[in-house]
Amino acid sequence: MIIYGADYNPEQWSKDVWLEDMTLMKECKVNMVNLNIFGWALLEPSEGVYDFSMLDEMMDLLYENKISVDLATATAAQPAWLSMKYEDVLPKDKHMNTVWHGSRQTYCPNSSHYRLRAKLLVEAIVKRYHKHPALKMWHVNNEYSDHTSICYCDTCAEKFRVWLKGKYSLEEVNERWGTAFWSQRYYSFSHIIPPRHTAADPNPGLVLDYKRFMSESTYELFLMEYDIIKAYTPDMTVTSNFMGNDNKPLDYYKWAKKMDLVSWDSYPDPLDSRAYMKNALTHDLMRSYKKQAFVLMEQAPDQVNWRSKNPNKEPNEMILYSMQALAHGGKGVMFFQWRQSLKGAEKFHSGMVPHNGTETKTYREVKALGHILSSMKEDDFKASVAIYFDYDNWWALEYEPGPSADMKYMDIVRDYYAYFYDNNIPVDFVFNGETLEDYDYVLVPNAYMLHDEGVFKDYVKKGGQLIMGAFSGIVDESDTVFSKGYMSSLSDVFGIKVLGYHVLKETKSNLLGHYSWKDEVKVLTADLLFDDDVLITKNSTGHGNAYYIGGRFDDYSKVLDEIIKIKGYDSDEGVSVRVGKKYVYLLNFTGLHKSLDFEGINYKLQPYGYKIIHL
Ligand code: GLA
Ligand code: ZN
Repeated sequence: MIIYGADYNPEQWSKDVWLEDMTLMKECKVNMVNLNIFGWALLEPSEGVYDFSMLDEMMDLLYENKISVDLATATAAQPAWLSMKYEDVLPKDKHMNTVWHGSRQTYCPNSSHYRLRAKLLVEAIVKRYHKHPALKMWHVNNEYSDHTSICYCDTCAEKFRVWLKGKYSLEEVNERWGTAFWSQRYYSFSHIIPPRHTAADPNPGLVLDYKRFMSESTYELFLMEYDIIKAYTPDMTVTSNFMGNDNKPLDYYKWAKKMDLVSWDSYPDPLDSRAYMKNALTHDLMRSYKKQAFVLMEQAPDQVNWRSKNPNKEPNEMILYSMQALAHGGKGVMFFQWRQSLKGAEKFHSGMVPHNGTETKTYREVKALGHILSSMKEDDFKASVAIYFDYDNWWALEYEPGPSADMKYMDIVRDYYAYFYDNNIPVDFVFNGETLEDYDYVLVPNAYMLHDEGVFKDYVKKGGQLIMGAFSGIVDESDTVFSKGYMSSLSDVFGIKVLGYHVLKETKSNLLGHYSWKDEVKVLTADLLFDDDVLITKNSTGHGNAYYIGGRFDDYSKVLDEIIKIKGYDSDEGVSVRVGKKYVYLLNFTGLHKSLDFEGINYKLQPYGYKIIHL
């Protein structure tokens, strides 16, 4: 059964509205709600005093109406009394200014008072509801790092020192961070502080380690809740909703390993003409973290309220995007939120039940979608291409100042991904530590920070086709430039040396497209596939092949056409074909009528229309 539902915030409504909600949820075939996401202030009116009366009533009501609950732990927004009572709770920004209470997620991840109160709250919730028949899943916190992804306070500084001591000696810190530079040498751990506001650029090693530390600090919060939950309900699914693919602060791959289910919140930009492709990429990433079906935990039924301009979704577009989630390995379609708020900062964010009720286009589509999904099942997908993705590399590459602020990791990944998407060739993502042998091709869009050369060598030795993009093999995992030269440790695999890079003053073009960057490649044993200013090389090792793409193109379609020998499916731009084990999905993300041939049959697609073919 496909999960269908939304964040449900009944605390904003009176009881007569709750009853109408039950009727409408059933009418729309809602089978699950995410409850209690922002419930803390109501559940704990003062320190240690709990009031579960509303939540008790709501859990029972949902159960009576056969709607199951993904119960949230309510720790994403602490009550005002907690923020005001203990000084360590509110986070500090780069300038050591307090980030004040009054919105949400305003807590320092290392605050002992936040952690203690969150722990006690989660224990109370889990003890109270772990046997409730409506409970089907746990929802830890909400979008960790959405608003507070980094804190610079003294508590964090102290914990950072402890974290560092657990990893390195003081000498190693000095070595790794290269503190011989600018007189930055440390003689005591107590002198190390977070990368707060500084006069000039802070030490990149410090910045990188602080990012790792913050990701791990936030992960500790998750683990704390996870362990409490598992002590009472070892077999129940635990998730925490991830954000989209621009979310850099957390190493989601690491998190996903611990979570039972990956879920994420998707808000494609209506003003971005390639939003559907970017959204597909994130679905693929989410499926790939565990190589398992994920849940689309939130999407907007219509508009959001938080971009500067928030156009509506086109008729049927929301249903199309819901199908896209299934077509990339989703097993649930949920929304933020069930009923559009009348008050608060999100009152102009759409809900499944809009301000103007059930006569609206949004409600009609929400109801139609519930009926469509009720007869569908989750699908399974196979890819023979993998894109290598690495958080450490992302964090390291984007330290500025660097050679060019245009070298953005996600942009590079996307520009490569687009080729496969547009040719309807399925891809998985793979991560450090995973086996690559299942894939015919492994593409590494960028490996500025190269710390997995052994894996790549092995893959080629076993017959794989390895493709690597420009500005790779520059630094090791402590962000120190390889003293033997760029790409030196992979020079035998690729049959090249890289002698430098050029950031072009203006974009140039050659037969393969436009490019803004080129590496200076010296060929050793590789063959030249292309050599008009930018070099593309292929080294045949007798086993697999290793390709190096020595330029940053804005479109890699011609480049990859030279290398990839897989045939996808032909379709117009904006029309996507996904072939699963149960269904074929034809998705039209354009506002035009489209037609498409699939295995000898011609299919007509309405604007923002889709077609599901049963296999
Ligand atoms: C995020 C949050 C929700 C809500 C939506 C609005 O995804 O998790 O609580 O604020 O954004 O788009
Ligand atoms: Zn802090």
